[in-house]
Amino acid sequence: GQVLVLAGGLSHERDVSLRSGRRVAEALRGTGREVAERDVDASLLATLRTERPACVVPMLHGETGEDGAVREVLELLSVPYVGAPPAACRAAFDKPVAKAIVARAGIDTPASVCLPHETFRELGAAEVMAALVARLGLPLMVKPAKSGSALGCSVVRTAEELPAAMVNAFAYGDVALLEHFVEGLEVAVAVIDDGSGPRALPAVAIRPDGGVYDYTARYTAGSTEFITPAPLSPELSAEVAGIALRAHEVLGLRDVSRSDLIVGADGRVWFLEVNVAPGFTETSTVPLAIQAAGLDLGKVCASLVQAAVA
Ligand code: DAL
Ligand code: MG
Repeated sequence: GQVLVLAGGLSHERDVSLRSGRRVAEALRGTGREVAERDVDASLLATLRTERPACVVPMLHGETGEDGAVREVLELLSVPYVGAPPAACRAAFDKPVAKAIVARAGIDTPASVCLPHETFRELGAAEVMAALVARLGLPLMVKPAKSGSALGCSVVRTAEELPAAMVNAFAYGDVALLEHFVEGLEVAVAVIDDGSGPRALPAVAIRPDGGVYDYTARYTAGSTEFITPAPLSPELSAEVAGIALRAHEVLGLRDVSRSDLIVGADGRVWFLEVNVAPGFTETSTVPLAIQAAGLDLGKVCASLVQAAVA
């Protein structure tokens, strides 16, 4: 039967999602599968009811894509899909919630504080900022609690930079996460389960030319150096793989995820976040990891579909 790749939608990561969806759809076509692509809007329900796809591949990034909302619809219609169930997506997409869940499982995650926009407004920027800097220390990473592709994220190195960073984060949602910024090597570790149990792919090390892995560094070809497998000792490679697998497991994720981690200068590994619909664009890390594992992107996608309909 037909595979339906859902992409686009109305999140801030719409463009990225269209690129991911296109790449996955093409990879699947290369394996001989019949594939349709749909830009997600209000007609989704009708499309699913009339087309009855054999399987959906939700390549939606950001809100209403990664928060599980669209997967609720798939559940309601009993349409098989690749990826984690709605409740697990909701927890994983909410960075503070995901951090709390993995921390309870013994995974290190940088110290952080969650601040709703309303509290920020009520308490007055100056006071709150001073207290937060005192509590967390500098530098800080300020992010929207729920977003992706580094949108609304800023590194804060002096207290004066904090208010602007907060405003930037609140542009993408009502809650900001202020997190101690750990200097070190950023690595992305994909977990794939195409029916024989979850396994971690080789870690991809991320070295943005400008030092910050922001939206431009993520999606402009040649602006970030990716090293696969990441230059880590065998012990550290095993540790980052174990952390990604454990995060996948304790968050109840399925089929595919990508954990973003920092390996500090002292070799300590920190969990930043996990993505339930990681990017599959030409500059994304999961396709690089698949290639580094000696696997074929189309075959991996086809086995994920196969496992979802089995
Ligand atoms: N949120 C983007 C798509 C990623 O994590 O790859
Ligand atoms: Mg993300």
